[in-house]
Amino acid sequence: MLILLDSADLNELKTIIPHHPVDGVTTNPTIIGRSCTDRQEIPGLLQRIRGLIGDDGMLHIQVTARDFAGIIGEAEAIREQFGRGVYIKVPVTFEGIKAITVLSRQGIAVTATAVFTPQQALLAAKAGADFVAPYVNRLDDLAVDGSQVVREIKQIFTDYSLKTRVLAASFKNVEQIHRVCLSGADALTISPELYEKMLAHPLTKLSVEGFERDWAALPEESKGR
Ligand code: E4P
Repeated sequence: MLILLDSADLNELKTIIPHHPVDGVTTNPTIIGRSCTDRQEIPGLLQRIRGLIGDDGMLHIQVTARDFAGIIGEAEAIREQFGRGVYIKVPVTFEGIKAITVLSRQGIAVTATAVFTPQQALLAAKAGADFVAPYVNRLDDLAVDGSQVVREIKQIFTDYSLKTRVLAASFKNVEQIHRVCLSGADALTISPELYEKMLAHPLTKLSVEGFERDWAALPEESKGR
């Protein structure tokens, strides 16, 4: 199971990377827009994220063009600038699937994004995407079980021996993460806030406070340190 952070906020990322079990970072235009007000700053920000996650970390960067030629042009420029370990996120539109087919033939790693159905995921996998990213919370918001969509995508990939991995995205709470982990996802991308919530438990806090209190109550000379 890969765990990625869905953020471009360097301060947030730095609190977790590099000393936690995180495999990389995913971004999209909305996420970038929260950290940059000027487009000129974007390459620098992405380079700093690249530096933070290191050469072995994955960095998923989304194209903004909607037409085939525009997507290919942006993807090649991103690949040129960020090199290996970069995954080009392409939405699963008609033009997007065409671009994924060409990019994967060129050996450029692709994450098919904005996936809401197993059928979109199937076509993205057939086109050669390395990952598909189903949006769990956006499905749950429409009373469609996002974790079930993840399960069905995974089932189809397994049944038909498609090597594309499932990178579940769009989470708003830890229960969604839990359900998706039981659905066979290969990877999750979550906000730094949710990452911390995965560890938070009142009983853990109480237990640690109790250990601390009991240790402090012992006479100094008996602690043997
Ligand atoms: C990640 O790849 C997606 O772009 C992201 O998780 C979408 O999340 P949202 O539904 O919270 O915007």
